[in-house]
Amino acid sequence: MPHSHPIGIFDSGIGGLSVAAKVRELLPADDILYVADSRHAPYGDKSDDFILERMNTVTDFLLGQGAKAVVVACNTATTSAIAQLRATCSVPIIGVEPGVKPAVLATRSRVVGVLATPRTLQTHSFSALAARFSSTVSIEVQPCPDLVGQIEALRFDDHETLVLLNRYIAPLLEKGADTIVLGCTHYNYLAERIAQVAGPGVQIVSTESAVAREVVRRLACEGLLAESGKSGDEAFYTSGELAVFGRQIDRLWGPGKAVYPL
Ligand code: DGL
Repeated sequence: MPHSHPIGIFDSGIGGLSVAAKVRELLPADDILYVADSRHAPYGDKSDDFILERMNTVTDFLLGQGAKAVVVACNTATTSAIAQLRATCSVPIIGVEPGVKPAVLATRSRVVGVLATPRTLQTHSFSALAARFSSTVSIEVQPCPDLVGQIEALRFDDHETLVLLNRYIAPLLEKGADTIVLGCTHYNYLAERIAQVAGPGVQIVSTESAVAREVVRRLACEGLLAESGKSGDEAFYTSGELAVFGRQIDRLWGPGKAVYPL
């Protein structure tokens, strides 16, 4: 794919593909360059310094390929260090935060549950987000340290995944949550299973569509949208094993896409 000026999108692994898919829906003419930093996944048990170093490395690669904007399609990276990344970049940097605000608007029980990585829930940025709403709604958090590994392995329907989901969701239901935020882009691939485990009275909130709309808004503001009429292409890079990534892309994006080493 000739990367004229693609939209760069990255995550620690495949979770950000759920965001890339929504960007593709809204922007069919734009080229997309996706990076899965799979060799360093999960980010959710790493330090802020380590995550920032990876964000800088991946962003440098994307900018070197001519990216006109960078989407940090990862709640963990966004909440850990997006401010530092923005401070050193001249292109628009769009991040992903847990959808606490839409969940607060949707809840009737006044209890919102948030599933996210341990790191996301420890960040100042997440604490500040939760604090904005905690006077009116109880924000109950649940770290899910083992879920990303299951998703990276495409074990969506495994018994072990179901056991983990029950273990993570039950405490939120016991506290009265009627709305559950998917605070990690990987969890989007388990949204249906999470809804089944949580039961019919519980709403699931995810942010990939809102993030894609924000990408469109930012690119339009900056005059950076691709000319309509052409068909955008995608290129997929990984810092991990190519064969594994090839199977992930086949399953989640569709067959026939080439994958490249970072
Ligand atoms: N998909 C990511 C997120 O939204 C990262 C998960 C991880 O690597 O721990 O947080």
